[in-house]
Amino acid sequence: MMKVAENNKKNKTLNPLQDWRNTIQCMDCLLGMDFIPNDSIDLILTDPPYGISRELNCKGKKLGSTAVLDFNFGEWDKFNQEWFEVAIKKTRGWMMTFCAKKDVGYFIDRLEKAGFIAVDVIVWQKPDPIPLNAKSRFLNAWEAIVVGKKPGALWNSNYEHNIIKVQAPKGASRVHPTQKPVELIKKLIQLTTNEGDLILDPFMGSGTTAVACLESSRDYIGFEISKEYCKLASDRLKAAQTPLL
Ligand SMILES: C[S@@+](CC[C@H](N)C(=O)[O-])C[C@H]1O[C@@H](n2cnc3c(N)ncnc32)[C@H](O)[C@@H]1O
Repeated sequence: MMKVAENNKKNKTLNPLQDWRNTIQCMDCLLGMDFIPNDSIDLILTDPPYGISRELNCKGKKLGSTAVLDFNFGEWDKFNQEWFEVAIKKTRGWMMTFCAKKDVGYFIDRLEKAGFIAVDVIVWQKPDPIPLNAKSRFLNAWEAIVVGKKPGALWNSNYEHNIIKVQAPKGASRVHPTQKPVELIKKLIQLTTNEGDLILDPFMGSGTTAVACLESSRDYIGFEISKEYCKLASDRLKAAQTPLL
């Protein structure tokens, strides 16, 4: 796909807003976003690598009905902020990113420096967090989502809490180690965009944002560097498109 994109750039034939609409491009988002025109996206909603991989002595242990414990997410989890500076230029509306708690201040600062209103930090509350190190510290029962907007960006609510409690994917529905719930992503999409609007997720993982867009009649463009996760995302999208008999 990278080659296709490079060739298209040379030939000036690629129209990413049409040709990549409702697709996940299996490529590095830093290369892909270079093709997306500035101010062409209504909402960027993404979940980048946080740099939270750890080798734990509990690795491999089973935990209730959830997957086997493994907090080494591999190469892709290397944290790097370069993507944010590129992505922020693409949105004319909203910018939302999951991030590690220690990086909340960094992203608020970058939003304000880019002329955005740093609206809030949303808490995604997980009702049954993994009881990791429960005898020596608090359980990790929430994740942060930093939210910024351009002045005048669309807001579809009159009353909305900034703490959203949703079950994390588990069992057979959990196919990616840091998969987010479709219900949570749908809520954020529906609050900040209208049907037909365009959403960019540079780090699609298993395609949660794409599934949420599909189920909310929004359009999307996604990037994902791992072939394995691109395949998973494509399978999930096919399943979401197939009506239940
Ligand atoms: C935190 S996960 C996203 C999980 C996703 N929210 C879900 O529900 O499945 C981050 C993803 O970014 C991908 N990634 C890492 N670096 C990337 C890059 N430079 N370009 C595109 N994708 C990248 C990883 O392969 C990983 O799947």
